[in-house]
Amino acid sequence: MFVSDCLSVSETGHLTIGGRDTIELAASFGTPLYVMDEEQIRSACRRYKASIDENYGGRGLVTYASKAFSCKEMCRIIADEGMGLDVVSGGELHTALSAGFPAGRIFFHGNNKTPEELAFALRENVGRIVVDNIYELELLSQMAKGTGKTAAISFRIKPGVDAHTHDFVKTGSIDSKFGLALETGEAFDAVKMALSLDNIRLIGVHCHIGSQIFDIDPFELSAEVMLGFMARVKDELGYEIGELNLGGGFGIKYIPEHDPVEYERYMKTVSATVRKVCAEKGLKMPFIVIEPGRSIAGPAGVTLYKVGGIKEIPGVRTYVSVDGGMADNPRYILYEAEYDMLIANKAARPKTQAVTVAGRCCESGDLIGENVMLQDVSVGDTLAVLATGAYNYSMSSNYNRLPKPAVVMVSGGEAKIVVKRETYEDVVRNDL
Ligand code: LLP
Repeated sequence: MFVSDCLSVSETGHLTIGGRDTIELAASFGTPLYVMDEEQIRSACRRYKASIDENYGGRGLVTYASKAFSCKEMCRIIADEGMGLDVVSGGELHTALSAGFPAGRIFFHGNNKTPEELAFALRENVGRIVVDNIYELELLSQMAKGTGKTAAISFRIKPGVDAHTHDFVKTGSIDSKFGLALETGEAFDAVKMALSLDNIRLIGVHCHIGSQIFDIDPFELSAEVMLGFMARVKDELGYEIGELNLGGGFGIKYIPEHDPVEYERYMKTVSATVRKVCAEKGLKMPFIVIEPGRSIAGPAGVTLYKVGGIKEIPGVRTYVSVDGGMADNPRYILYEAEYDMLIANKAARPKTQAVTVAGRCCESGDLIGENVMLQDVSVGDTLAVLATGAYNYSMSSNYNRLPKPAVVMVSGGEAKIVVKRETYEDVVRNDL
């Protein structure tokens, strides 16, 4: 019935998440409110891990891309599931380490890591620094030498694969700011250089072709291209790269019409491709890393808002304003992202009207959805926007000096705050 398994409707006709009544949660913790379901997060993690066990003999690691949703509690859950973690900034690294996440299972990404961030990663002995470009390789090598360390690296490579997704979240083709190009020989030169450098240990290659992808073909193709590159490195440089990181990007169901590929099918298909290409090219089967973000956090979240003013403009449209908007969910204004939503206190009733849900920011484009079907809506209702666990809290801002909402985690029937709601005092905390 809903886009996520953790959602249901109570006997009183209220939307529930993880068995908890969303109207009670909104009353206890206030709105806007992000609510996450721990079971849903853990079950996604376990499905990914099981798919590697079943299809690839367990010779792989699922690393959660923490940019999708990062806070200490999320890092604790991912650590507890025995997974790896992808971080893309000093802030994400600090969050992970302060939650006690094992540094050896952290992969540090980014197309322009600062020298301070590289020093931080080296100091903490992160598992892998995913080097994006030759400047970074040289810098890292010098810094490692200075501290007497050896940096374990992987290279971010653009496989030249076009993923069928929104232009802003495509990353695999040559015209991308991320990674080293294959076509121009840049990636090969980087590998050659890395092999000549002391203090650098080349362990793997990495690619990530985009996000919210529904097809398997681009993933298969990028695995083939990457293995082709690994074979060339073996043949011409006599070095066999042992780790292949295929990135994340697996799409989720935001609206009922979305039909994402099951991870099990993805892993089955990609494992078969890897097996076949390795046999053809005489390569050992590499250790596989995958980096799902959205598909782990996204379906586990809902955002709850209070409905304020309703403006019916005859012959034009009806605006339903809520007490949040682009500051807590910038995905509509950025990508015109579609969401399924409903009136949580009228969840069992049919949806009878098409409305535009507007946020409260000083910006006409601050919408959560246009032409969305909702139950008969009145002031004071609670609106639930579904599948908002990924790239909502993590991309939230204080625009208009709005304090960021709290994040509540529901687990085993209990609800606890994992990120406190900001106060006005928090908003001015760094002002001098
Ligand atoms: N690995 C790398 C290197 C990435 O850059 C990303 C996402 C992931 C893994 C995780 O991808 P996922 O499984 O979550 O699709 N803000 C956009 C999404 C940006 C994705 C950035 N990179 C959105 O809200 O749709």
